[in-house]
Amino acid sequence: MSHVKTSLMLFCFLSGVSITRYAISAELANDTLKALAIKHCSQCHTLGQGEGPGNGPNLFGIIGKQAGSAQGFTYSPGFLAVMSGKTWDPELLDRWLTDTQALAPGTGMVYFQDDPATRKKLIQFLQLQR
Ligand code: HEC
Repeated sequence: MSHVKTSLMLFCFLSGVSITRYAISAELANDTLKALAIKHCSQCHTLGQGEGPGNGPNLFGIIGKQAGSAQGFTYSPGFLAVMSGKTWDPELLDRWLTDTQALAPGTGMVYFQDDPATRKKLIQFLQLQR
């Protein structure tokens, strides 16, 4: 009996530890993604909920939103001509971040990211922001 009790306690103890470890590593991973997004995007964009536009529109919750729909931001005609009516999903964002000028010629965002792994991380970060 006491052996069962000890095993149970040990189980709870160990699983508690592993859950904490998982939470810590997930937090670290999020911090790494956030740092990357800050480095690449925050020169022109705000990333937090409810923040106003910078040089570009606020990006909080962008995945699932209609392109060109941020309040209080005036988009360029080049952007609106191509992007109006489209919804941001990971695939469209991947094309956008690869070469903004190829997707929407004349857009005010000049950005090219050749590295697919970096694009994937940036998109992962934006997916967490909702
Ligand atoms: C040098 C400034 C600059 C940088 C750096 C920049 N952007 Fe932009 N971004 C803009 C501007 C300006 C617009 C508006 C485009 C237009 O109106 O033509 C825009 C628009 C966007 C849009 C469309 C938003 C909407 O409301 O439809 C997305 C998505 C976006 N940027 C994502 C990013 C991400 C992600 C990064 C970082 C990897 C980034 N941008 C880096 C300037 C920038």
